[in-house]
Amino acid sequence: MGDHAPMKVSISPSDRVFVLTGAGVSAESGLPTFRAEDGLWAGYRIEDVCTPDAWRRNPAGVWAFYSARRASGWKALPNPGHFALAELEARLGDRFFLCTQNVDDLHERAGSVRLHHMHGELSKSRCERECGRLPVEDRNIYTSLDEVGRCPCGGRLRPHIVFFGEMPLEMDRIQEEINRATVMLVVGTSGSVYPAASFVHWARQNRARTVYVGPEPPLNASAFSQIVQGKAGEVMPGLFEVAD
Ligand code: APR
Repeated sequence: MGDHAPMKVSISPSDRVFVLTGAGVSAESGLPTFRAEDGLWAGYRIEDVCTPDAWRRNPAGVWAFYSARRASGWKALPNPGHFALAELEARLGDRFFLCTQNVDDLHERAGSVRLHHMHGELSKSRCERECGRLPVEDRNIYTSLDEVGRCPCGGRLRPHIVFFGEMPLEMDRIQEEINRATVMLVVGTSGSVYPAASFVHWARQNRARTVYVGPEPPLNASAFSQIVQGKAGEVMPGLFEVAD
């Protein structure tokens, strides 16, 4: 291969691929990332909108923030990065697992099925009291707290979002999937929020190949065996060489 051959990620018939995505995969769909200079956290303080304490003190403010996220999320469309992952899943079947930190639904709208939202989902709400009832579909954009429904147990509905200080969802399942993966592909995440930033280390302990895709190296860049530098929507189509 010449020096200018595009970088490829080869997947063999015995490989199992675990993918972790972050806000960067949705950036080209027009959804801002969190930690860019003009990112979401630049206009907000996390402790005002995304913590259990914020919810207790000011549920109206939390709902205003997540209603705004819903409004932009519903308008956004999946980009070629999302579609490349859905196509990879179509090739690999159950040898593929996608864990996203994103709360938008762009992966599923691109066709991904074996998908887990570890930080929750914008399109759902759940009881603030953790009364045991499952999250419910809720695509409402609330303009006041009076519009927000209550659970049959009396608790107010809160966004189905993992706030800072809360445990990500289904960590056991994530750990199992990482344990059996031979390739870990991480796309568009700064490596600054744990436990997701540890996944690459867990994969390395199991001798998996570790690949990062994004325009700049993440904080945990040294843990990756391969870095594909570029925007997800530009470099992911055609990135994978899947052997049958
Ligand atoms: N393609 C790929 N990656 C991109 C692109 C792009 N087009 N544009 C930006 N990126 C990368 C940035 O280089 C950065 O490393 O996406 C990353 C976004 O990082 P963050 O803003 O920190 O977002 P993320 O890592 O997903 O945040 C993790 O933190 O605030 C919480 O719960 C929230 O799930 C989120 C978690």
